[in-house]
Amino acid sequence: DPRCDSSAPPRYIAHRGLSARAPENTLAAVQAAHDAGCEWVELDVQLLGDGTPVIWHDAGIKRCSDGRGKLFKLDAASAATLDVGSWFGDQYRGERMATLEAMLTLIQRLGMGLNLELKVSRGRNAIELVKAALPPTLEALPPERLIVSSFDRHALTAARALESDPERLRLGVLDDKAPKRWWQETERLSAYSLHLDWRKLKIKRAREIADESIKLFCYTANDPVTFEKLWDWGVDGVISDDPTRFVMHAAEQRS
Ligand code: G3P
Ligand code: MG
Repeated sequence: DPRCDSSAPPRYIAHRGLSARAPENTLAAVQAAHDAGCEWVELDVQLLGDGTPVIWHDAGIKRCSDGRGKLFKLDAASAATLDVGSWFGDQYRGERMATLEAMLTLIQRLGMGLNLELKVSRGRNAIELVKAALPPTLEALPPERLIVSSFDRHALTAARALESDPERLRLGVLDDKAPKRWWQETERLSAYSLHLDWRKLKIKRAREIADESIKLFCYTANDPVTFEKLWDWGVDGVISDDPTRFVMHAAEQRS
């Protein structure tokens, strides 16, 4: 039974999976998010040198694996030899880099929602990424369980060109701060949502956006006091390394 068949925007999105508790952007982090009761995850997608889409945040592999160098220097076979779990904790030793394909299969099986971030590292080709990553994602998930976001405007434009119907593809415009004329950007792309850094957001701008039909998501909020403040500002959803902190906080407030 899918956990999120409503078309309401997600209240919480587990950032890079449940990245406070498991190695970010792995199958384990998505399973952990599901086990903790999260319905949605945010994940970053990029291409390996051979064009395989994989779930990975950095341009390099040093921080989150036992290898070093650039992601785009790897092919699928060499990526599959990396340990992407031990850096986080011994219990994750042997975790493998997730291909987009394997990740989509897991998310489908778990009935979760996905905010897929098209991550265009410096010098990489946005169009190639969209062409490789978007079709299988659109095929795997129903439109109400998918939001495709990016900081990269070329990637968003290419995504909209590939699927012009805003009901069939929800696009999220990612930025640290709201662009001055944010509505021009979101209208041009027929976007579903704006995804902003809460640390750079002020109440006035938040309420102005909340008054419009565009959805507003904030990243990366990790403490219950911030969650409460953002709800008060009319934010639709938060992207958090640990949404379970909110659930715990709510339970404390009730008791
Ligand atoms: O999608 C929100 C957030 O993930 C954007 O920043 O660097 O964590 O991918 P980053
Ligand atoms: Mg991201």
